[in-house]
Amino acid sequence: MTDDELRRRIGAVLERNRRRGYSRGLKQHYDFIKPAGNRYPFQYFWDTCFHVFILDRLGRLDEAKQQLRSLFQLQQPDGFVGHEIYWQSLLPAKPEDILQARLSLTHLRPAMSALIQPPLVAWAASRIFHGSGDRTFLEEMLPKFKLYFDWLAENRDFDGDGLISIITPYESGIDYKPSFDEALGFGSGRGRLGLYLRAGRVDLANFWRRYHLPAIYQAKRFIVKEVTYNTLYAHDLEVLAGLLETIHDPDARRYRQRAEQVGRRLVELMYDAETAAFYDINVTTGRHLQVLTPSIFAPLILSQVTDTVARSVIDRHFSSKQEFQAPFPLPSVATSHPAFFAEESHYIWRGPTWIAYNWLTYQALRQRGFDQPAATLYRSTRQLIDTSGFREYYNPFTGAGYGAINFTWSGLVLDMMD
Ligand code: GLC
Repeated sequence: MTDDELRRRIGAVLERNRRRGYSRGLKQHYDFIKPAGNRYPFQYFWDTCFHVFILDRLGRLDEAKQQLRSLFQLQQPDGFVGHEIYWQSLLPAKPEDILQARLSLTHLRPAMSALIQPPLVAWAASRIFHGSGDRTFLEEMLPKFKLYFDWLAENRDFDGDGLISIITPYESGIDYKPSFDEALGFGSGRGRLGLYLRAGRVDLANFWRRYHLPAIYQAKRFIVKEVTYNTLYAHDLEVLAGLLETIHDPDARRYRQRAEQVGRRLVELMYDAETAAFYDINVTTGRHLQVLTPSIFAPLILSQVTDTVARSVIDRHFSSKQEFQAPFPLPSVATSHPAFFAEESHYIWRGPTWIAYNWLTYQALRQRGFDQPAATLYRSTRQLIDTSGFREYYNPFTGAGYGAINFTWSGLVLDMMD
């Protein structure tokens, strides 16, 4: 496929999945892109940011602005924004959707979920700003972002160390990431019903506590500081600070300090020098969840990670045959791990290659000047799309496409092109 053909086809997928309209119930206009046909019908938090990166590469910046506007349109007065916004239908798409929203007497089904997802909103907005020079857009969005990040720091940094905790695996965006198995009490191995039920029980417990965060923290059923989440959080705080400086907002200093603190704590608490990898922390036990997934590469995007550490992580893991080397990298867990399964499964993120992981790793590699592995990753990602089209995830050995069809995330390959 030529570059032009690729752009045309990605543009068509976004167009097909775009939903615009007016919600009479919510009395609001919306304009969002769903990631795939029927399987994922809502506006999702981190998917929205991915769509902005893709739209930026397609030069469709006005549309990109609309995505972020819609995402923050239902922001609560305290700053919270849910990971799913049910613009067109309050009906759940899957059972989890019921448990992941707050039950209240006035709103049996609120318009958005009670969960969070990795924050890349400032990064996305910075792309829009750099492409358009539109300061008014920044002035419109940045106060909302500040409120959102303040909510996170006040409500999800339970122990005050700067890092954010997730309260269910689904908040990571990496739903069945094998590192969560231990925290869920699931014996390691291939995904099966027991895993689904354990994750579901966490959601059920949070639902019964009506997402009252102090009570959820106290019960400590599933409280995890996840690496990718916290990397994107630290990175976004830094980008936010830069954008605030652009509009001469004196709060810029506060967010820069927070970014610095989070980045530093991430390295201190998540990096294990012996195995040269970053690990999630199970807050209940205080221990690392020592499973190798492509999350180990994400922190390389942060300035607080030294070049020596970055080099060790790459040298030790990127090309290791038992871990991430495969004909179509990056497998979503080391190929030698007992959870690894290369094929289609309900238990996603446990073996197959995901474009989002490749995209993020690519950004981190480029940031560090590891241009060679970055180029390799770009080429194999491009080949995956040529072979199997726009799919949710792919077999790392054969390149076969699995999961949702016409899945938008494949478009992130456009953001790996230089
Ligand atoms: C799956 C993914 C999650 C994504 C959602 C919508 O649940 O794990 O990251 O946001 O689908 O695409």
